[in-house]
Amino acid sequence: MKPLSQALSLSFLILMSAPQAEVKSLSGYTVDTEGLCGGFPKVALKTTDDTCLGLVATEESGLKRPRRILSVGEGLFIVTDMYGWVANKGIVWLFDSKSRKLTKLFDKVDQAHGLGMGPDGLIYVGTRTSIFRFNLENHLETKETVISDLPLEGNHPLTHFIFDGAGNLIVNVGAPSDQCLDDKDRPQYPCPVSEGDDPEASLRLYFRDGTGAYPSYKVIAKGLRNSMALAIEPNSGQLFQGENGMDFKDADTPLEEINLIEEGAHYGWPYCYEDGLLNPKYKRSLLNRRIPKIDCSIYKAPVAHLPPHSAPLDMMFYQGDLFPEFQGKLIVTLHGYRETGHRIVSLDLNEQFLPLENSRTEIVTNWSSESGLTPKGSPVGMTTDKEGNIWFVEDKNKTIMVLTRGDSNVGDLGGNTLQIKLSASQVNAYKGLDESIFTNSCQSCHDQFSGDPKSVVPELIKSGLIKPGLGKESPLYQRLIGTEAGQRMPLGAPAIKSELSIKLKDFIDSLK
Ligand code: HEC
Repeated sequence: MKPLSQALSLSFLILMSAPQAEVKSLSGYTVDTEGLCGGFPKVALKTTDDTCLGLVATEESGLKRPRRILSVGEGLFIVTDMYGWVANKGIVWLFDSKSRKLTKLFDKVDQAHGLGMGPDGLIYVGTRTSIFRFNLENHLETKETVISDLPLEGNHPLTHFIFDGAGNLIVNVGAPSDQCLDDKDRPQYPCPVSEGDDPEASLRLYFRDGTGAYPSYKVIAKGLRNSMALAIEPNSGQLFQGENGMDFKDADTPLEEINLIEEGAHYGWPYCYEDGLLNPKYKRSLLNRRIPKIDCSIYKAPVAHLPPHSAPLDMMFYQGDLFPEFQGKLIVTLHGYRETGHRIVSLDLNEQFLPLENSRTEIVTNWSSESGLTPKGSPVGMTTDKEGNIWFVEDKNKTIMVLTRGDSNVGDLGGNTLQIKLSASQVNAYKGLDESIFTNSCQSCHDQFSGDPKSVVPELIKSGLIKPGLGKESPLYQRLIGTEAGQRMPLGAPAIKSELSIKLKDFIDSLK
């Protein structure tokens, strides 16, 4: 028998060279090779009228965990690939969409993430602790670190940045924890890492000097948990931030936020969120007298909200010609794994160029409807090319996709309906796992693992977290032990005992 990887790359080659009516699985997507979109295999996801989605590059072409994409010329793109939640394995790719070839420009980059074109035409890349730049013509010789003093520790290590109109760099310094609790789970006021002269959970502005160096910075905004989406509105010059809010257990709260960044403002993390709501952990009570009564009205409220836990990971004000229907609007990728996430949306602006939250329109959606066939979407970075096509990367599904003009898919996509019947002993086995693992260690952030096994398990299969019969390959198990692709769970807490994770693996193996 051929090894799987060889079989896959072979089918990929056939697909690329001679399109014929065949159904293929690429990066987990089922594509009909006859249906093309922009010359690429068409993905059966729902998009807005007269737009379609092409599958440009996949896992089979070598992508590991692509995070950002940047158009750098006719059909050419730079892609940062963090590889996984491990140090020093990230890749910077050059992607040629015509030959569909990925070329490694740099490897062993520490959690490659942020990406942008500088005012000097050089390409800038964010690593866990630094930002470096290079010239595409001779990338190895010209590689130069420009910022090297970014904080190292914590849960939000990825470096995202954008340039302002003067060529200065606005850099996200993510909060090192979810809610700034101490090791006994108690609130800290003031939160030591997010206050003072040089706080984390902030945005820094690094000044570009006359020589093109970035020798110094000032903190321009505080109390921002993790600013993975940043964009400047071109008419007003206003800077907006998409806030990835705290991991409350409740599925309906907190809403994610779009903040208008004003210099010197404090946006509330970890004490307050949304429009003046107090984080329950920071409520003063008889038991909680270390904390004063906190007045949330002193923190700056967002200008718009996004669905709870939807995780905005990139945004841009669309300026292309191809889609007049998106012109000037704010486009946001939502990466979250809960029901509200995994889609791309647009928001209209009002006369003050502020996003209007009730105008939200889904541009790419239905990522989870194809029960098990199509993986849940995980869009991260976006870029537009000269024509105005929107190219984006997905990290979990390991793809590059393009949204272009074409016939859209509409309505129900008719995925296979899942028929899984659990035996009484399987029901009991899952109940045991729920009691020993999920309720105690996971439910505070994920409520979808707990409850009646007869409904929970099929949902987990549908979303791809359980692959029936394949314990070792199921993300739910992999996250307990921690793999290169995913951080070990529970996030920020000691590992689950191995005898328990083995029980989970055995349970999944039993689902044949
Ligand atoms: C403090 C909050 C927190 C706790 C507790 C936690 N997680 Fe997570 N989990 C997250 C966040 C945030 C993500 C998304 C980021 C990522 O993918 O790494 C995530 C992602 C995941 C994913 C990937 C979801 C997907 O759709 O790909 C799995 C599976 C997962 N967690 C399992 C668990 C399990 C099992 C536990 C308990 C043993 C647990 N988590 C506990 C915060 C948490």
